Amino acid sequence: MDKMEKFFTTRKRFPAFSLCIHIERRNSAVHSHMSLSGKTVLVTGAAGYIGSHTCLQLLKEECKVIAYDNLDNSSFESLERVKRLSGGNGNLMTSIEGDILDGEKLDEVFEANEIFAVIHFAGLKAVGESVSKPLRYYENNINGTVVLLKSMVKAKCKSIIFSSSATVYGEPKTVPCTEEFETSALNPYGKTKLFIEHILTDQHASDNEWNCLILRYFNPVGAHPSGEIGEDPKGIPNNLMPFVQQVAVGRRPELSVFGTDYDTKDGTGRRDYIHVVDLADGHVAALKKIAKENGKCGRIVVNLGTGKSTSVLELVGAFEKAAGKKIPMKMVARRPGDAAEVYAKTDLAYEILGWRAEKTIEECCVDQWNWASKNPYGYSGKED
Ligand code: NAD
Ligand code: UFG
Repeated sequence: MDKMEKFFTTRKRFPAFSLCIHIERRNSAVHSHMSLSGKTVLVTGAAGYIGSHTCLQLLKEECKVIAYDNLDNSSFESLERVKRLSGGNGNLMTSIEGDILDGEKLDEVFEANEIFAVIHFAGLKAVGESVSKPLRYYENNINGTVVLLKSMVKAKCKSIIFSSSATVYGEPKTVPCTEEFETSALNPYGKTKLFIEHILTDQHASDNEWNCLILRYFNPVGAHPSGEIGEDPKGIPNNLMPFVQQVAVGRRPELSVFGTDYDTKDGTGRRDYIHVVDLADGHVAALKKIAKENGKCGRIVVNLGTGKSTSVLELVGAFEKAAGKKIPMKMVARRPGDAAEVYAKTDLAYEILGWRAEKTIEECCVDQWNWASKNPYGYSGKED
């Protein structure tokens, strides 16, 4: 049984004991002073939406960043901009075009560098596509992670921070979602996240020197306040915020609101939208945890969310205010598989990582609009 499992089992059996553990955790939690300067971090999927924002925060911490990406859903333009935003630390980052399925290339990277930890963002993430092309998802996400872990084993690099998702809560029976909730997956994408969580759990069980920090993101939105980097989805966006953004810049005529008959205040679905810069800082906090514990974190699972939910109509209202324009909408049927309300219990992230999200939904919309108005067609400047 690892530290976390012991903690939860004990907490269930002896609630008074759990209070002691909470106090102990809280006292040892905040380690923002911990320095990451000079540590080398391999970031897979670095050129993507969350990866690029995280690379910027890592450069600000004076980490040496090896940005590894096959550019399947991105370009290195995002990282060129990250270098420019990094206040002179851009030379600390090296970009490598490479696939996580390419073990030889990964071995070379590990041989040439003393890598402190891996932040593993690389993966395919479109739920609909995962249903029509499940093998692509299983191969890329699951095989890719196994290849990466094998290279880490060879190099004796035993610390990994993994991008999991609230999708592993399936359709939660209640909210907020705690890390103790039963997990399930409704589609191949979700199954890849769940299975990778199991793989990391087993890897840690096989060698308890491994530090496996599994971060379950809720709904990442927003962009860096500079408006220089942001989300640049290819094709028709699947998610709410990028769709609203594309309506606002005139790329789509209207937003379809999926369902107005949920058991929520205004009848539309409610989600936990987290600003991408807060999310990126969550990764910095996770790295500091590994550094502080001297590599003895074990396996940790934490939610990264805000603990608050916002409805579709509330989000559109906040975006309209930020952009100073109306978003045309049509009300349509529910999207199959959508829950009425999903949001995170966030206490554990604060207790363990000393981190919590700071930015409001209004700030998310202001930053999203700043990015959209400066880059209406994303990094390429033209329609895909
Ligand atoms: P993204 O598509 O913008 O970034 C993923 C990056 O990984 C892309 O740059 C892509 O080119 C790269 N990549 C994919 N397969 C690769 C491979 N085989 N080898 C090397 N690089 C590869 O997505 P994102 O929103 O930044 O998401 C990052 C991670 O977080 C993903 O694993 C995703 O599943 C997870 N996540 C995202 C969300 C979200 O809503 N954005 C929510 C929960 C979890
Ligand atoms: N929605 C619309 N219209 C749209 C898109 C979405 O009304 O065009 C609604 C949805 O019905 C839902 C809310 O907006 O109520 C948010 O939908 P998203 O697709 O943006 O986000 P989800 O919470 O449904 O799912 C996303 C990913 C999941 C991931 C989850 C948490 O697709 O894989 O965020 O990270 F698990």
